[in-house]
Amino acid sequence: MSNPLALVEDILRCPVCGVSMRVSNAELKCVTGHSFDIARQGYVNLLTNKTFIKNADTAAMINARQHMHARPFFQDLARQISDICVEVSQSSPAATVVEPGGGSGFYANALIRRVDAARAVSFDISVHAAKVCAQQSERVAAVVADVWQKWPVTDDSADVVLSVFSPRNFMETERVLKTGAVLILVTPEEDHFVEIRTKFNAIGIQNHKNEKIAASLENFTNIHQLVHKSTELLDGSEMFNSLISGPNGHHIASADPQMFTNIEPIHVTHCVNISVWKLV
Ligand SMILES: C[S@@+](CC[C@H](N)C(=O)[O-])C[C@H]1O[C@@H](n2cnc3c(N)ncnc32)[C@H](O)[C@@H]1O
Ligand SMILES: [Zn+2]
Repeated sequence: MSNPLALVEDILRCPVCGVSMRVSNAELKCVTGHSFDIARQGYVNLLTNKTFIKNADTAAMINARQHMHARPFFQDLARQISDICVEVSQSSPAATVVEPGGGSGFYANALIRRVDAARAVSFDISVHAAKVCAQQSERVAAVVADVWQKWPVTDDSADVVLSVFSPRNFMETERVLKTGAVLILVTPEEDHFVEIRTKFNAIGIQNHKNEKIAASLENFTNIHQLVHKSTELLDGSEMFNSLISGPNGHHIASADPQMFTNIEPIHVTHCVNISVWKLV
């Protein structure tokens, strides 16, 4: 398969000096000479400071999330996000998608499959995530980069920024989006997984998170908003996968999954907010 990094090279910017980059043999190189190896798995690591990587998902967390994504709620969620993207990108059929904190690139991939000429850059601080992401599609480039630093993407280049359960940097979102382009934001509602979090005394969800987000998106107009909710009967291993897929994974990923296998199944609420914001 050809490397998707070549497909998006025109929108990548050097993390050191900010100029444009090109794929050359097994490297991504900027015109002033900074170069970054493309790993044999197909991703490129553009972190300039690799000594302090906090909150990067572990291999166990990525694996658990891949199992979780196979469940009906997440398959439906990916379909809904893709439907929205098809609708908003009608005027730009060759849509360019940037997915910060994209993990394995599950949502970018679902979306790319629906929009024939679309291409995506999915970036994450986790090398484990990038390894998996790089294997998914010829049109989703996998990059290791930090949401809190300047993104390795040029100004005014994205038709869609897709932020699903990931850290949110709205300044960078605004910089990389074209005027009139959209941010698709997915965040958990307060009752998302509440039964599991209560049962295992896990980290909760910040109160009024969505009101706070709306207040910080000053230069955007909210053009679409919906709550996607359902209940699923989960067995012990599905509860384990749900728990370690999110921030709780950093605390309990070392727990033995076998401990969860004998737990009685329970009905669990899945509830997320999907909002679409147009840059004005
Ligand atoms: C809850 S996961 C969501 C992943 C993906 N969007 C999904 O829903 O499948 C949050 C992701 O953010 C990534 N992350 C955390 N801090 C980050 C940072 N500073 N820069 C980039 N990614 C980060 C984690 O590695 C993880 O993959
Ligand atoms: Zn450079």
